[in-house]
Amino acid sequence: MKQYCVGIVGATGMVGQRFALLLSGHPWFQIKCLAASKRSAGKTYEEAVAGRWAMTEPIPESLKEMPVFDAVADMEKIASSVDFIFCAVDMKKDEIRALEEAYAKLECPVISNNSAHRGTPDVPMIIPEINPEHAKIIPAQRKRLGTKRGFIAVKSNCSLQSYVPALFPLSNEYGLEKALVCTYQAISGAGKTFERWPEILDNVIPYIGGEEEKSEQEPLKIWGRVEGDKIVNATSPKFTAQCLRVPVSDGHMAAVFASFENKPSKQQILDCWANFSGRPQALHLPSAPKQFLHYFVEDDMPQTKLNRNLEGGMAVSIGRLREDTQYDYKFVCLSHNTLRGAAGGAVLLAELLCAEGYLDK
Ligand SMILES: NC(=O)c1ccc[n+]([C@@H]2O[C@H](COP(=O)([O-])OP(=O)(O)OC[C@H]3O[C@@H](n4cnc5c(N)ncnc54)[C@H](OP(=O)(O)O)[C@@H]3O)[C@@H](O)[C@H]2O)c1
Repeated sequence: MKQYCVGIVGATGMVGQRFALLLSGHPWFQIKCLAASKRSAGKTYEEAVAGRWAMTEPIPESLKEMPVFDAVADMEKIASSVDFIFCAVDMKKDEIRALEEAYAKLECPVISNNSAHRGTPDVPMIIPEINPEHAKIIPAQRKRLGTKRGFIAVKSNCSLQSYVPALFPLSNEYGLEKALVCTYQAISGAGKTFERWPEILDNVIPYIGGEEEKSEQEPLKIWGRVEGDKIVNATSPKFTAQCLRVPVSDGHMAAVFASFENKPSKQQILDCWANFSGRPQALHLPSAPKQFLHYFVEDDMPQTKLNRNLEGGMAVSIGRLREDTQYDYKFVCLSHNTLRGAAGGAVLLAELLCAEGYLDK
């Protein structure tokens, strides 16, 4: 496989730190450039993350002395020194939209964790096992941007990375009518640790700004289809969501209730999950889990602390499948929010786009 030089924009943040770990030693991608806000610019990476390194693994030695650039002021320098960037920044949405488009227009593709472009009709929002064919929209986006190489591709919100993978294969087989989900989301999803957010200990907060809307609407883009120069959202299945912040460091769990057009048997659901795999598995992408969906038969599984790191944090854990009194079935699922739900999902997306030629130099 070809080697690619990559940059991390937002390298000092919670997701950026995950990127730093995942990309150090990656077989295809080599970190050439780190960038963040002007507060971090001019420091070494070690200085810039001092006192806020939130990972359990140490800062990669190879990155400690790397300079941090200003993601905005140094944009041209960054764009010209890498083949593409990963982007995870905490800025206003219109600023992020402008930043990502500016990189793309400098012919530097952007693989984004941010929500700013998820609603843009010609920006693909891809979970590589689920809707890899949405990448076909990239030529239309390049045409709009007036670029040869540059484009933006995004991953979906971390809240839905557990229940969408579990529901999608069932939907294909049995026609998912509607789903109700309650999510129990980790504090790293807010860029926080227990040290930085002691108020969350012994507490549950029943509000995460914008999260319920994303959890209900983003699946419809994933279920959507490429038509001409845009992705047309699906109008069904219907999703309703409540999202709660819970005192957990990493790992988003979801309690799911689902009804189908043709109600499957319990065994058919289990078989569907066991047999499901996608393009990343077929292409043997480096970050792809061998088995994407794992079902646990024990009554008290999956558990956030025990199972979030399954297959490097890239697999989805499912359990407690049973019939429901109001919906056809209910079950729980779990995924790691900064791995599969953020940096890991973006790295897998980049691997898919490399393997399919969208990031050719
Ligand atoms: N945490 C998750 O689980 C998760 C999951 C999925 C998606 N996301 C998304 O990923 C993005 C980053 O989230 P996070 O949790 O990593 O946030 P975070 O920990 O607050 O980090 C934010 C990053 O953005 C940089 N930044 C802030 N203002 C900037 C500016 N004006 N110009 C350039 N860089 C700037 C920061 O640099 P400084 O250090 O210099 O301030 C830092 O590197 C957000 O859009 C979030 O919605 C997060």
